[in-house]
Amino acid sequence: MTKASSNTANTKHTDTKNKTSSDSKASGCPFHHQANDNTRPLEDGIHQNLDNEMSYRDYLQLESVLSAQKPLSGEHDEMLFIIIHQTSELWLKLAGHELQSAIDYIKAENFGPAFKVIARVKQIFMQLTQSWNILSTLTPSDYLKFRDDLGRSSGIQSCGYRKLEFLLGNKSADMLKIHPAGSSAYQELDKLLNNNSLYDEVIIALAKAGFDIDPTISQRDITQPYQRNDSVLAAWLNVYQQPETYFELYELAEKLVDIEDAFQQWRFKHMYTVQRIIGYKKGTGGSSGVGFLKKALDVSFFPELFEVRTHL
Ligand code: HEM
Repeated sequence: MTKASSNTANTKHTDTKNKTSSDSKASGCPFHHQANDNTRPLEDGIHQNLDNEMSYRDYLQLESVLSAQKPLSGEHDEMLFIIIHQTSELWLKLAGHELQSAIDYIKAENFGPAFKVIARVKQIFMQLTQSWNILSTLTPSDYLKFRDDLGRSSGIQSCGYRKLEFLLGNKSADMLKIHPAGSSAYQELDKLLNNNSLYDEVIIALAKAGFDIDPTISQRDITQPYQRNDSVLAAWLNVYQQPETYFELYELAEKLVDIEDAFQQWRFKHMYTVQRIIGYKKGTGGSSGVGFLKKALDVSFFPELFEVRTHL
């Protein structure tokens, strides 16, 4: 750059600076006001002293939610362990709520709203998967300081998680044995075990669309895990070969693949985080630990949707 052009550039820069600062004073831009004195005054309109009116704390029941963290060990890291589980349980609860409505929408052949809630479930799972990174800051020695305090409690007893497995179609009557008969968890799971899963409703939608679905599917015992079927594979093959003709079913199929993908990522990160923290120790819930968790990675909710890819 020549001297003359460098001077021109400097002049331009100074001009811009002066212009910006004088403009912001003149415009009274609230952002600049805040940035200048680094404060944010309480606006007159902000409600103070809600007295008998419902507040944020009341609406969200924060008294109960924020007093539900009760570490047993006195160890610093137990708080992280409790909060990561409690927040995960809340997200699992929301995912279950959304999946139930997806089932209802598909039953009513109302695909648009079903896509919306299924997309939300995927995002919830991505959020849950992300939270393993926080837990990975817990070292094996940190965890061992309070692991004994957990006794036999374990995520395997999570009713929220098992509900999702059942809603998606991975049914298992044996899993009910983990909960006392008559407990609310047992009853909730028993109800879902005996109801159609999301995939059951999707297969009914395929039949309603005119695909020749094997009648043994609708006659089968729905308390058992779903087993892949040639007629369902053939239906999906048609859908994937003619996406324009069957666009809604095609979109539905891809949304289901999204959910399974996100769910498997959670399962994988859980297994890997567990391996990182406890190695190959047995779980507090009594299972072999990592070996048991690895087996879940082979369980698919929508097996034909993955198989169909091979045949395209
Ligand atoms: C230090 C952290 C963790 C360790 C060491 C751990 C360990 C384990 C182990 C070993 C199992 C197998 C069952 C058993 O014998 O206990 C298990 C299952 C499970 N855990 Fe965790 N876990 C951790 C964190 C979490 C978190 C944050 C969640 C979130 C809710 C969670 C949810 C689950 C669920 C749902 C199962 C059942 C999985 C299935 O049936 O396939 N775990 N966990």
